[in-house]
Amino acid sequence: MSNSKEIQTSDATKLGGSFTLPGTSMTVHRMGYGAMQLAGPGVWGPPRDPDAAVAVLREAIAAGVNHIDTSDFYGPHVTNQIIRRALHPYPQELVIVTKVGARRGADKSWIHDVSRQNLIDSVHDNLRNLELEALDLVNLRAWGNNGQAPGQKSLVEPLAVLVELKRQALIRHIGLSNVTPKQLTEAQTLTDIVCVQNLYNLAQRDDDAFIDDLAEQGIAYVPFFPLGGFNPLQSAALDSVAESLGRTPMQVALAWLLQRSPNILLIPGTSSVHHLRENLKADGLNLLTDALTKLDAIGTKSDKKANEEI
Ligand SMILES: NC(=O)c1ccc[n+]([C@@H]2O[C@H](COP(=O)([O-])OP(=O)(O)OC[C@H]3O[C@@H](n4cnc5c(N)ncnc54)[C@H](OP(=O)(O)O)[C@@H]3O)[C@@H](O)[C@H]2O)c1
Repeated sequence: MSNSKEIQTSDATKLGGSFTLPGTSMTVHRMGYGAMQLAGPGVWGPPRDPDAAVAVLREAIAAGVNHIDTSDFYGPHVTNQIIRRALHPYPQELVIVTKVGARRGADKSWIHDVSRQNLIDSVHDNLRNLELEALDLVNLRAWGNNGQAPGQKSLVEPLAVLVELKRQALIRHIGLSNVTPKQLTEAQTLTDIVCVQNLYNLAQRDDDAFIDDLAEQGIAYVPFFPLGGFNPLQSAALDSVAESLGRTPMQVALAWLLQRSPNILLIPGTSSVHHLRENLKADGLNLLTDALTKLDAIGTKSDKKANEEI
């Protein structure tokens, strides 16, 4: 970790400070919200308590969150419909980021699909269900299922479709998800890329060098599964650091990401107002050298023992 020294994150800096997506007028707090958990179990169908889902979104906005990550394949359609119900008409400063490149099978499966027709249909589904005339930022989810390693396929064809939709003013900006540095470089020959959304957290550190490279380019890195995803992080080292700081493990995991690099934007997911409030309090937490050393070791591949804890 390049910044494993004493870093002072100002307590006065709201929600982790702010970040402007490159070449855009979109400035967001570094602590946002990921909406995937708002759909029913398995990200399928309506949640058990739709009013509770609406309450989570409204609480996030009331707390100052201005970056929400979603997709129309969450539910499918359900998550975006809940966002619309809770927040439309949207606050002017709110940036809703969505993703395309998959669809759901009737058996609840996640089907990778970057065909021209699916990308166009997905953009229109997002527009309709979010009730928007244009989408602020669309990530091309390039490959694979959640949690699997990115592939190496060329993105030229699917990206050309998004560029076309951008020209039609249906999309304002483009990002990538589940991609490698090579795929980013190729994509940048076609269009500006403002963010990359890949799997990364305390225990999953494959993108360490990529994050530093993106930081140099001013491109946002948005780790998905920042808390470990469907099975949140479990680590004795994380627990012990949290206990020593009087914080919760999830707050420490998020604070570690905030300190990892200034281009990291957080989108932790939760279906609970209680967890949302807890997570948003991660921003005032300074992790000093001792804590960082213990936390960094969790993701060190050679540290087998630590990895087994996760
Ligand atoms: N690009 C992609 O391919 C991709 C893939 C996956 C996800 N995403 C995006 O990334 C966002 C975040 O991912 P995620 O929500 O799946 O995973 P996550 O943020 O790593 O973790 C969410 C899980 O942690 C639990 N949790 C949250 N706060 C907690 C707390 N304070 N204490 C204990 N448990 C807590 C949640 O349960 P509760 O509901 O009970 O709080 C939920 O089970 C998603 O919303 C989605 O927008 C993108």
